[in-house]
Amino acid sequence: MSLTRRKSLESLLERAKHNELKRTLTAKGLVALGIGAIIGAGLFVRTAAASADAAGSGVVLSFLIGAIGCVFAGLCYSEFAAMIPIAGSAYTYAYTTMGELVAWVIGWALILEYALGAATVSISWSEYVNKLLVQLGMNPVPPQWSHSPMEPGGIMNVPAVIILLLLSAVLIKGTQESARLNAVIVTIKVAIVIIFIVVGWGFINPANHTPLLIPATEPGHAGMFHHGGWGLLGGAGTVFFAFIGFDAVSTAAQETVNPGRDMPRGILGSLAICTLLYILFSWVLTGVASWREFGTVGKEASVTYAIEHGMPGYEWLAICVTVAILFGFSSVILVMLLGQSRVFYTMSEDGLLPKLFCDVHPKFRTPYKANILLFFFVGAFAAFLPESLAGDLTSIGTLLAFVLVCIGVIIMRKLQPNANRPFRTPLVPLVPILGVLVCGGMIISRDAQTQLTALGWMVIGFVIYFVYGKTHSKLNTGG
Ligand code: ALA
Repeated sequence: MSLTRRKSLESLLERAKHNELKRTLTAKGLVALGIGAIIGAGLFVRTAAASADAAGSGVVLSFLIGAIGCVFAGLCYSEFAAMIPIAGSAYTYAYTTMGELVAWVIGWALILEYALGAATVSISWSEYVNKLLVQLGMNPVPPQWSHSPMEPGGIMNVPAVIILLLLSAVLIKGTQESARLNAVIVTIKVAIVIIFIVVGWGFINPANHTPLLIPATEPGHAGMFHHGGWGLLGGAGTVFFAFIGFDAVSTAAQETVNPGRDMPRGILGSLAICTLLYILFSWVLTGVASWREFGTVGKEASVTYAIEHGMPGYEWLAICVTVAILFGFSSVILVMLLGQSRVFYTMSEDGLLPKLFCDVHPKFRTPYKANILLFFFVGAFAAFLPESLAGDLTSIGTLLAFVLVCIGVIIMRKLQPNANRPFRTPLVPLVPILGVLVCGGMIISRDAQTQLTALGWMVIGFVIYFVYGKTHSKLNTGG
């Protein structure tokens, strides 16, 4: 049956040997790549939102719940990424385990994660550039040129397009250059997170942490996922966005010097470091200001608000935080664009997308045409869509990929029990099943409208597959 035709593991390993992309990344570079993609709008924007809306000061536990789901998925990703050092990530793993149609479904869902994720964060970037301009006493970009036409008074979001253009150019120049820029940015944003934690610790007001959870009697919090213990789950759904990105490490498998050893280190290492920082950061943030303020006066630019109102004498830190947030967003966008172009690259090598997506630049040895097309595609989203539309869709696309990767590990153990596995997911099938349950649960917990929009996206994907991919597939043409 053509829909379930699979790529053989052997053919993939053979392809990895004839690698056109440069192998320049090490475990350290991969951890930096992971942190580059992970710490961004999720931490700086959604922590306060989750605490005000659902979890109170217990948002620290919401981060723990989100991390547990990601660790299960991360362990499964690590097995595949070490075993199949090919650029396509979850898409490639599905192609060898569940067949072409499921692989296409994942590839299509990953566009939600990476392309839409990059667009979402570039829109947030534009918002914060304006904040910084105001903080520095300068004129912000006029609202019509910094908002989508779907928002009041907006025409086009120009700063969002500019940051995408700049970062696309860096990506075309080379993976090593991108990794270097990413490493600088990661140092800056991690430093600021640590400074905030250390300085803020002394300003924690214990009254802000009591009670830890939102009481059921709190006005406006009647919904099941908006108070008490279940509120922690509601909060986890919101802050899940903060973890998106650790899987992007696996898209760089083909550019890693020693993928068998370094992929698991990169994926699990970046996840562990970010989880620790998230837990400490959210504890300090909800201690410096109360979650009630984050729902009202401190709703916008919550971190800056907390510093200005809860840490007297440290107003300078507020500007540093805004700058660090801008840097942080830039590296998230960079790694998302990198991940997307690598997924396109692999899908195109397989014949499911036109060949130009895998044309490699003769000098830079990067898939430059994919990067250019991606810029226009993501740029259109960023210029004309509001941020709110994109965030949850990004989460759903990611969670779908996580679920399918977890299932893939179980299938692969049956299909290829003796294949060389430099890293083995522990306790299979328990860990993958728990991954499916936790991540599947988070998909179900999203609102119906977002689920429907995601479904619509998948339907478009099916149409493209049956009109183009199915017949052009290399497995069909024998190419
Ligand atoms: N995890 C990334 C962020 O929070 C997507 O911006």
